[in-house]
Amino acid sequence: MKPKYKHIVAVTFGAVLLAGAALASGSTKHVPVKQADQRAPLVLLDAERHIVLEEMRNFLAVLQIITDALPREDMKEIARAARTMGSGAANEIPPVTVAKLPEEFKVLAGGVHTLFDLIALDAESLADPKHTVSQVSELLQKCNACHGIYQIKVGPGAKAKK
Ligand code: HEC
Repeated sequence: MKPKYKHIVAVTFGAVLLAGAALASGSTKHVPVKQADQRAPLVLLDAERHIVLEEMRNFLAVLQIITDALPREDMKEIARAARTMGSGAANEIPPVTVAKLPEEFKVLAGGVHTLFDLIALDAESLADPKHTVSQVSELLQKCNACHGIYQIKVGPGAKAKK
């Protein structure tokens, strides 16, 4: 290697080392973080959080079944799936847990269950996939509305709300 190239290699190597050192020191610096999650906390026991989140995952799973059935225009399957999340499913959360949830949460959750009921009814009676799609969009707005307001925190101190 010619001396000139040796020099370039040395300078390049030095620059890589410096960049590495800068990155390493940067990672140990305290980065100020904004208060991460400003949504209102629902303070539940760990087991209660599990029940609520399980219901949430069921919502999502049923929406997947509905969107899968829509292009096939399988309205019977849509009605069957939607009904599993209808008002009948609302009773799956134990009363002691329901008692800890604020009124607004219950209203929002109730709205989701009754819309699932309506999706099931309309899928059977109207059997119009476009109508179902617009109902699913309306449903997703309700999901988003509640997710924008609440988060779940695990804690022992939750008391039943009147
Ligand atoms: C009444 C309020 C409310 C409604 C309505 C609602 N959710 Fe949720 N959902 C929550 C809360 C609270 C959480 C927990 C969020 C957190 O702690 O960050 C959650 C979490 C979830 C999760 C995460 C589950 C997990 O295992 O972590 C999914 C998925 C979800 N919701 C789907 C849905 C879908 C789909 C809908 C509409 C069909 C919906 N939710 C409607 C309140 C709601």
